[in-house]
Amino acid sequence: MSNTNEWKVICRVEDIPVLGARRVVRETGAEVAVFRNSEDKVFALLDRCPHKGGPLSQGIVYGESVACPLHNWSIGLNDGCAKAPDEGCTPRFAVKVEDGQVSLDLNELNTLAIEDAAAA
Ligand code: FES
Repeated sequence: MSNTNEWKVICRVEDIPVLGARRVVRETGAEVAVFRNSEDKVFALLDRCPHKGGPLSQGIVYGESVACPLHNWSIGLNDGCAKAPDEGCTPRFAVKVEDGQVSLDLNELNTLAIEDAAAA
């Protein structure tokens, strides 16, 4: 991560439901899901399952994974990848938590997986 990162404040950790997620709408591109697990760790993935695009933000978080609400694939919150035997990854976004405040990388928000919006 470079020092030139610009961060966009999204919310506070407590604004994210425990074992759930909050959706972040972008100017372009599919939404980003910001998850909180039982240990108050925060993760961010594109809000699209690598299987058939299910809304991961509506899934249930357990450990450091989320269960997709559509067909129950298990997606790793650290890497966005499906657990074997399922295959595929969804883009993950860098997260910064400082003093209970959650921020996402502005450059990633503006560029990462923008083209996936068309398939939404
Ligand atoms: S769309 Fe997520 S498991 Fe099928």
